[in-house]
Amino acid sequence: MRIASELISEGDFDEKVKERTMQKANLIWHHSTVSKKDRQLQNGYKSCVLWFTGLSGSGKSTLANAVDYTLFQKKIKSFCLDGDNIRLGLNRDLSFAEEDRKENIRRIGEVAKLFVDSGLIVLTAFISPFREDRETIRKMFETDEFIEVYLQCPLQVCEDRDPKGLYKRARRGEISDFTGISSPYEPPSTPEIVIDSNECSIVESVGEIYQYLKEKKILID
Ligand code: ADX
Repeated sequence: MRIASELISEGDFDEKVKERTMQKANLIWHHSTVSKKDRQLQNGYKSCVLWFTGLSGSGKSTLANAVDYTLFQKKIKSFCLDGDNIRLGLNRDLSFAEEDRKENIRRIGEVAKLFVDSGLIVLTAFISPFREDRETIRKMFETDEFIEVYLQCPLQVCEDRDPKGLYKRARRGEISDFTGISSPYEPPSTPEIVIDSNECSIVESVGEIYQYLKEKKILID
């Protein structure tokens, strides 16, 4: 698949960027009547984003969904944005080339921010392989609102799990730019939470994340 910027010829691309910059100058951010704070006060908990990152097969989606379910049972409003699902819809125009992965993460960051403004606890499950991109997203949020959850798991374990058979195909050279095989993964240097998904059960991991949310007074009970 070609990357998004390649789909526009070079001249057109420059024109589009210029056009967008000019439009930007005429844009004004409208503050909503009901603020994020108002929504949080009514809910009785703070909104935030739990940003899961890790290799394919490290357990991001499984754990994010398990946390989502626990919050749902406790009547806390949350929502999970999942890599494969978003790539089947919102980001279906994006490939796995570096530039498109950056755009993938940028868009998710923007969506997550809107959801946090709406008072939700957002769970994002994307490989999000580049440290710089994750740090850019972190800066879009207030302190304590962006919680990076690193699913630490050796490549060999992810490869042995291979739930979608993608590692095998990547090893055979049938998938290009595959994270961990032919494309890099940069682990976070100072994540808020590290889960050793090879050692820690789902129940223990959910407990650890839930405890963190309580310690940080995002959840109060
Ligand atoms: S990211 O790198 O841009 O953050 P994202 O989380 O959206 O990736 O999508 C990863 C999922 O897409 C993987 O779990 C896997 O199922 C699938 N996938 C397909 N091709 C690739 C590839 N080349 N590299 C990694 N994952 C891929």
